[in-house]
Amino acid sequence: MSAPRSRWRLRVAAAAAVLTATGVVATTVSTATAAGPLYKNPTASPQARAADLVMRMNLSEQIGQMVQIQVGKLYGDCGGYTPGPLNRGCAKDVLSTDNVGSILSGGGDVPGEGYYQNTPRTWAQQINLLEKYAIQHTRLHIPIIYGADVVHGHNDVVNATLFPQQIGLGSSFDTSLVRQVQGSASRAATATNVRWAFAPVADVDTNSRWGRYYESFGEDPHLDGAMAAAAVEGLQSTGRVAATVKHFAGYGASDSGLDRTPADISMRSFEQYQLPSYAHALQAGADTVMVNSGSINGIPATGSRYLLTTILRGWYGFKGVVISDWNDVQALETRYHIVPDYEHAIAVAVNAGVDVTMEPYNADTFVTEATRAVQDGLISRARVRQAAERVLALKFKLGIFDHPYVNASQANRVLRADLALARRAAAESSVLVKNDGALPLKTSDKIVVTGPAADSVADTLGGWSVGWQGVPAGSPERAVTVLKGLQQAGGSNVTYAADQATAVGEASSADAYVAVVGRPPGAEGPNDVRDPSLPNDPVLGQQQDLVAALVATGKPVVVVLIDDRPDVLGKAQDANAILMAWRPGTQGGMGVADLLYGTRNPSGLLPVTWPKRPTDQPNTYIYQTMPTTYNGTGPVYDPQYPFGFGLSYSKTTTAVSSVAASGSDVTVKVTVANTGGPAGAVSVPVYVSQPLSRVLVPGKRLVGFTHVWLDSGQTRTVGVTFDKKVLGVVPGDIAAVGPLAVEHGQYVFSTGTVTDTVTPSGSNTLTL
Ligand code: BGC
Ligand code: BGC
Repeated sequence: MSAPRSRWRLRVAAAAAVLTATGVVATTVSTATAAGPLYKNPTASPQARAADLVMRMNLSEQIGQMVQIQVGKLYGDCGGYTPGPLNRGCAKDVLSTDNVGSILSGGGDVPGEGYYQNTPRTWAQQINLLEKYAIQHTRLHIPIIYGADVVHGHNDVVNATLFPQQIGLGSSFDTSLVRQVQGSASRAATATNVRWAFAPVADVDTNSRWGRYYESFGEDPHLDGAMAAAAVEGLQSTGRVAATVKHFAGYGASDSGLDRTPADISMRSFEQYQLPSYAHALQAGADTVMVNSGSINGIPATGSRYLLTTILRGWYGFKGVVISDWNDVQALETRYHIVPDYEHAIAVAVNAGVDVTMEPYNADTFVTEATRAVQDGLISRARVRQAAERVLALKFKLGIFDHPYVNASQANRVLRADLALARRAAAESSVLVKNDGALPLKTSDKIVVTGPAADSVADTLGGWSVGWQGVPAGSPERAVTVLKGLQQAGGSNVTYAADQATAVGEASSADAYVAVVGRPPGAEGPNDVRDPSLPNDPVLGQQQDLVAALVATGKPVVVVLIDDRPDVLGKAQDANAILMAWRPGTQGGMGVADLLYGTRNPSGLLPVTWPKRPTDQPNTYIYQTMPTTYNGTGPVYDPQYPFGFGLSYSKTTTAVSSVAASGSDVTVKVTVANTGGPAGAVSVPVYVSQPLSRVLVPGKRLVGFTHVWLDSGQTRTVGVTFDKKVLGVVPGDIAAVGPLAVEHGQYVFSTGTVTDTVTPSGSNTLTL
């Protein structure tokens, strides 16, 4: 019997004893009655309230908390995607008959599936309405929790401020920026009554073919972990929103690089280079975790007890809610064929550790089959109670029971909020990788802007923006494109050429070209690309030819890449300057213009490796700089630009000046100097090398980083502190499984990029 049940029994027994006594009884009882059940007491802890409430619920009510349904199943004809008002019949089925405890908007699931105008106010009104329906039509008046992908701002809402996609934020090497950006996203979600944000992504990139490459903070587990932790802090900063560490774990490590395909990975690699990012984000206090849709070592993550219980709950002590990804419990039957039917699929997932099934299509079947699984003894009553109790505890923690509604008339304040932050984020997220002196531009220069992404709102925002695959045609969504941003700064000196012939024709009057190129937006599997090169075809445009034609005019050509991944540029590599702006968001063009005109000094560093050839896959400095006996030609790691690379308009020098350990902390001091050129922020990565290591480790690996401001000519010494355990490896032979341990020996610290040589000198060395 579980602890909560015995506590409840005790309470009941105590009250009964008082009742049978005489004298003072009446007052005692009436006090107890006036106070009401414990779960209604807002001063009790969320855990105590959930434990109390769950024991008052019957099996179907508890099972209802274990399912999350797509909002379209309650609107219009309830088919999922048909526009229409709330359908009371379906609301009754889902919320009252099936007791469903949670509803989500998938990418592009806007109010009434498009029946209502997509504004923060209608979001708030509709969620309030669903909330009210659930509270009024369930026996115990239990509110729902509403979830959405708040991955770069409140991205399904038209004209809510959108920030750079995660890969851009990863490029900033600035955790405080990420905290602020996600704080803004949290305020936007809170204003519309969205309480469960399916963010951040803590997946580690390994292969730029992946359609979700841009949703990650990058290819380094410590960069990703520190950024994801900051994102969790930001998202949960209002106290009203739960963050979701997704997609646990190893979703970015598939062998093919394609979405939701198998990852076969040794436990050593998994523990050293995949798990740490999630672990770090969990330590920041994330309320929920979403499961990887793919498989690891032959087992679908959704069905892995080792992953979802031994590692997640055991090793990491996670106490919150685990949710499956989209339809993934059913996939154990229909796609993975590891069980004969849905009943067994539910049993496998729930027993592995899934508390909430994201069951977009059919809540009724889930409830029926989960109930059958309990009756057939496949799932214990205690496990059902535990899952339901976790969900209820989350709802109590977020204040949903006590304050289920938001003031919808105030919700539109979300519109155009925090634009200055979005502009700064766009600038900090862009990485200058080439500059022969063409940049910065002068506002007096005559600039001809061209290229398919120059004035495209959809390209500027990327996937998961109003629509799943990006801003749908005809949407009133706004964003400052690169063209508009440059025009704001350069006025009529900035003109637009719609095609190559026009652009080339303007060569004689132009001082410089800005070619804004890249692929159109997308998401998930549909956004996988087999050949991650800058398109040069009739469908997506002869983009490499365009840049080559501009270069041939002899005028300086600046390439701005608006893209999900570092596309191999081919002929476009010959441009005089190249700025990777990723998907820079609502103020993207402003941030890019700030950099191109030099009102801001670029400070972004690549959070991923930029491949030299599209076939260089998988491609990360972690895996490609391991020691080998390779005897082919040239280095194995042969990128166009390495991880951690990025230029600015100043001359800066960085050097490790000292290393000291104290307890479990290691502090590396780095002296950073601006020796010429403008002031600006400098991103400072700190890497470690091991001259001797029994377990192979990369030539260098990132252990920490910081971001500092330097005036022109200024020198500063900054400390980067990290926990020794980030140095850990899995000791033992090829079949080894953790825990991570720190090898004895020398650790040599450096800064710069991963391809610089490291020399042990003494002051940069620590012996552990
Ligand atoms: C994605 C998740 C997302 C969910 C809800 C899934 O397809 O993999 O990242 O949170 O849909 O939109
Ligand atoms: C996505 C959802 C999206 C749906 C569309 C899913 O894979 O994660 O967000 O709405 O597909 O079918």
